[in-house]
Amino acid sequence: MPIPTIEWVDGRIHLIDQTLLPNEFKQIYCDDVESVWEAIKSLRVRGAPAIGIAGALGAVLGIWKSKAELKKVTDYLATSRPTAVNLFWALTRIEQTAEKHKDLENEAQNIIEEDRARCRAIGQHGLNLLRNGDTILTHCNAGGLATSDYGTALAVMFSAHESGKNISVYADETRPLLQGARLTAWELMQAGIDVTLICDNMAAQVMKEGKIQCAIVGADRIAANGDTANKIGTYNVAILAKVHDIPFYVAAPTSTLDLSLKTGDLIPIEQRAAEEVTEGFGSRTAPEGVKVYSPAFDVTPAHLITAIITEKGIAHPPYEESLASQGD
Ligand code: MRU
Repeated sequence: MPIPTIEWVDGRIHLIDQTLLPNEFKQIYCDDVESVWEAIKSLRVRGAPAIGIAGALGAVLGIWKSKAELKKVTDYLATSRPTAVNLFWALTRIEQTAEKHKDLENEAQNIIEEDRARCRAIGQHGLNLLRNGDTILTHCNAGGLATSDYGTALAVMFSAHESGKNISVYADETRPLLQGARLTAWELMQAGIDVTLICDNMAAQVMKEGKIQCAIVGADRIAANGDTANKIGTYNVAILAKVHDIPFYVAAPTSTLDLSLKTGDLIPIEQRAAEEVTEGFGSRTAPEGVKVYSPAFDVTPAHLITAIITEKGIAHPPYEESLASQGD
């Protein structure tokens, strides 16, 4: 990223406002916990690891005046978005640090540094799954914008590209908020990687035409059995990949594992406002008063996932065993 997705500068949070991309590249500043909550809720900062970092830094901001407020602050931040476990993981880490009377600002910085290292390691492990000339399909945005830097699914592509492999990417636009079109296409173009944008409903045809060698996506929460929550539409991609005999990979740091959940049925799925579907980006595209159902995530069953790439290596089925040894 030209500037960090999210950072702590002189007692306030600087973050790239992702709702404005790709038209405007602008940093905004949060100096109170309410503005951090709003930034997470409205997807100014988004993507599981980046939400975790925002939560950790938000907690530090929230207790600026009184350390006794910590639990109130973390409980409040936890209400911003329910699906990405990284938020709860980071808030718990901050709470545990406070219990040990250690420096919270320092711990939030540690979370950022660790995330950077994890993303790089994911890239290194995943790059071995790609061959020269491969074309990869991805969904939503699991890039530098969704993490502290470099990404998870996109880290694999960045690493392959940097290692000299000639790869191309098809990016699903990712209705309704277009993270694929607005963010993934933008990031890959910045990195000089060949990217082609498609509407979500074009993936089957593109696979049938033999254009795709594998799919790689990120994750918001991975249950102990490998079931994986990610942006709505990911499950469709996994089914299509299975039908076309294309490997389907998930790339995520171990901070996205939730081994306390036996299966993906237990993952809370965020519901978003109807307006995001009926008048996304300002123009009404559905009749006034129409009923809307808008889950923001779906859960891809483990049996559709060829492998899960983490910073610790590549986990294969059965995931109950391979993920248990990777717990964060
Ligand atoms: O609603 P979003 O944009 O926060 O959803 C993001 C995703 O689904 C990403 O794929 C996921 O968080 C992984 S980010 C490395």
